[in-house]
Amino acid sequence: MDSKRNVTKRGFTKYTFLVLLVLISLSFIAVFDHTQNITSFFRPLWDTPPSPFEYIPHYYAENASMNKLCNLHGWSLSSEPRNVFDAILFNNELDLLELRWRELYPYVTKFIILESNMTFTGIPKPLTFALNRERFAFAEEKISYGFLPLEIPHGVQVDPFLVESHHRSIMNELIRRSGITDGDLLIVSDTDEIPSSHTVKLLKSCDGLPTVLHLEMRNYVYSFEFPVDYNSWRATAHMYSRWTQYRHSRQTDLILSDAGWHCSFCFRHLSEFVTKMTAYSHADRVKKKDYLDYSRIQKKICGGDDLYGMLPEEYTFKNLIGKMGSVPRSASAVHLPAYLIENAEKFKFLLPGGCQRSLE
Ligand SMILES: *[C@@H]1O[C@H](CO)[C@@H](O)[C@H](O)[C@H]1NC(C)=O
Ligand SMILES: *[C@@H]1O[C@H](CO)[C@@H](O)[C@H](O)[C@H]1NC(C)=O
Repeated sequence: MDSKRNVTKRGFTKYTFLVLLVLISLSFIAVFDHTQNITSFFRPLWDTPPSPFEYIPHYYAENASMNKLCNLHGWSLSSEPRNVFDAILFNNELDLLELRWRELYPYVTKFIILESNMTFTGIPKPLTFALNRERFAFAEEKISYGFLPLEIPHGVQVDPFLVESHHRSIMNELIRRSGITDGDLLIVSDTDEIPSSHTVKLLKSCDGLPTVLHLEMRNYVYSFEFPVDYNSWRATAHMYSRWTQYRHSRQTDLILSDAGWHCSFCFRHLSEFVTKMTAYSHADRVKKKDYLDYSRIQKKICGGDDLYGMLPEEYTFKNLIGKMGSVPRSASAVHLPAYLIENAEKFKFLLPGGCQRSLE
């Protein structure tokens, strides 16, 4: 009996040692392979979170009167609704652009859209909007389109921040030329950050608003089947004055809660994922060629997994660990852009059960 126990014990020790050895070697491999992830994992130790927002509670019910809604926010009903200008720098998100413009059409005075034949990272690109303009005929009389021609000589290293800042200054001109006047509402956001129509109606109809406020949006990835969190904040609404600048960064501490949807990588075709991953922001995250493999991308989409195998950007271990792994699927298609539900068949890739994508 005694000797038997000894054997088990020795066996256990040997086993532990082996497991340790394997673990240590694996973590060495992991360190070399995933330096970025390790840095991200320890973000709570080296990075400080942005200063906290001051959340404006957002009230809405389908039948509530505008007067009631303005008052609930501490504002008052305006005698004349203000004009609304919605300004975006467009890349290639055609489907989201259609959902956006259909959602906002009744409340927007001018849709300002700027596109270039080159990405921020200096890669030539087709004029996707111009080529598909007939799809947006429903809004034609409200469109204020700008084309920014760019030519970067071959072999010249471009600074994406400079190209982006050039886009923004051209956008400022386009906004000024679109007929905007002091006191109008200017919405500044990316194409995939869609304010809800009742939010824009509220901001259009009330007096006493702050001069600038961020719009909090629900974050989704790949489609509305994968809700990530509520933390999208970059979209802003400005009461326009001639000092207003087109920027997509932190402007103020004020943020209006639950004001729309931010759908990242919400593309219909797998080819669009590859275009986005190579030509637009974060091309540096494509560490391996197989990241661009269609079947790999398809698997990531249906699994709700990160395309780059990266960890979430979080500032506390509690949030970081809570968000590691796949984004859980949601079966809810409630409180989404109206045009999406009215055209569920056309947009089924954005709805629960629609994760399978076609090639192009
Ligand atoms: C909303 O208003 C309509 C018409 O004014 C009315 O028929 C309906 O019952 C109202 N719905 C709710 C939930 O109050
Ligand atoms: C962009 O368009 C301008 C004007 O049409 C042209 O001169 C330029 O070569 C184009 N750039 C690229 C990268 O195609």
